[in-house]
Amino acid sequence: MYTEEVMKQFMHPKNMGEIKNADGIGKAGNFICGDIMWIFIKVEKNKKEEVILKDIKFKTLGCAAAIATSSMITELAKGETLEGALKITKQDVANALGGLPPIKIHCSVLAADALSEAVYDYLSKNDLPISRELVKTHERIGKELETTEKKA
Ligand code: FES
Repeated sequence: MYTEEVMKQFMHPKNMGEIKNADGIGKAGNFICGDIMWIFIKVEKNKKEEVILKDIKFKTLGCAAAIATSSMITELAKGETLEGALKITKQDVANALGGLPPIKIHCSVLAADALSEAVYDYLSKNDLPISRELVKTHERIGKELETTEKKA
C-alpha cells in the first residue's frame, strides 16, 4: 500500500521536533480524521536579500502518511524562498514520496496547509504584505482547524 519512500520517511523522519523562538508557526488539522500538524520555521535573508527558510521542523499527531508527508515537505521547503515554499503543493509532496494511496492524499494536504500557515504567521507578525490568495487559504485552514478541535 505504501511506497518504499513513504516507509523510509515514516521510519526515519527528517526535521521532527520544534524550533524555539520560531519566526513562524503553522498549525493545521484534518476534521475528518482529527489529525493535527505544526510546522515551525526560522528564516534568514540570502545573498539576493530574499527571505528563505533557514530551518524548518514539524510535530505531527497523525497517521504514518501524515508523518511521512510532514518529513518530506520539510525536506522540500528547507532553503526555499517564502514564495517557493508556498508553491509546494500536496501533489509535489505525494510525487516526492513516489505516490500515496488515494485514501491518504488528504494527509499531504495537512502538510501543505501547516507550511502555508507558518509562512502566513511570519508575514503577519512582521507586518509584511500578504497576498489575497494566502489570506483565503489562511481562512479556510482556520475553519478546518476549528472543526477538528471541536471534534477532538
Ligand atoms: S489519516 Fe489523518 S492525516 Fe492521515
